[in-house]
Amino acid sequence: MSDDHTHVQEFFTARAADWDSRFPDDGPAYAAAVADLGLRPGDRVLDAGCGTGRALTPLRAAVGPTGVVVGADLTPAMLRAAVQAGRDRDGLLALADVSALPVRSSSLDAVFAAGLIAHLPRPADNLRELARVVRPGGALALFHPIGRAALAARQGRQITPDDLRAEPNLRAMLAGSGWRMTSYVDRDDRFLALAVKEA
Ligand SMILES: C[S@@+](CC[C@H](N)C(=O)[O-])C[C@H]1O[C@@H](n2cnc3c(N)ncnc32)[C@H](O)[C@@H]1O
Repeated sequence: MSDDHTHVQEFFTARAADWDSRFPDDGPAYAAAVADLGLRPGDRVLDAGCGTGRALTPLRAAVGPTGVVVGADLTPAMLRAAVQAGRDRDGLLALADVSALPVRSSSLDAVFAAGLIAHLPRPADNLRELARVVRPGGALALFHPIGRAALAARQGRQITPDDLRAEPNLRAMLAGSGWRMTSYVDRDDRFLALAVKEA
C-alpha cells in the first residue's frame, strides 16, 4: 500500500460514518448526472470511487435488473457504510484501486466517478485504466455535486490555472488517456464532464 493510498484511506475512514448525513440533499443531483451518462437497460457500469454508494441506486435504476452495477473503492470504511445503507442491494461492492482494476478490458459500457479524480495521485494513468475497462464508444462521467469555484470557496482556497479539472487541462488529460471529452459543465451546483472512449 503506497503512502498516497494510506493517506486517502485515513482521510475517508475518518469521514465514512457521517458522509451521507453531511450531504443529505445531493440525491437529485446524482440522479441527474447518472441520467446524462446515457445508460441503457442491460448495460454494465462501474462506479469508480463509489464511497458510500450514493450513485448506486440511480445507476441500478438506469441499467435495470439485467444490467451490472459495480462499485469499487479503496477505503473499507466507506464500503462498510455503503452496506449499512443497504446500497449493496443495487450493486456489487469491491475493495479495489482504480489504478489496477480487477476487471477485464473493454468489458464495461460506462464508468461513473463522483468526487474521485482530485484524490488520485496519478490521474492521467488512472483515467487510462478506466479507459481500459470500457468498450470503445463507452462513456465516462466525472461528476461532483458542487462546482469548482464553490468547492474552493468552501475549502478556503483559490482555483489556480493548473487545476486538474479546468476545462482545457481536463480535455487534454482525457485525450491523452483514451477519452474524448464531449461536454463540460462547471457551475455552482454541478461539475460534470462527459467523455467517450476512443476506438
Ligand atoms: C470524495 S469521495 C466520493 C465518494 C462517492 N463517489 C460520492 O460521490 O459520495 C472519494 C472516494 O474515492 C475513493 N478513492 C480515492 N482514491 C481511490 C482509488 N485509487 N481507488 C479507488 N477508490 C479511491 C475514496 O476512498 C473515497 O471513497
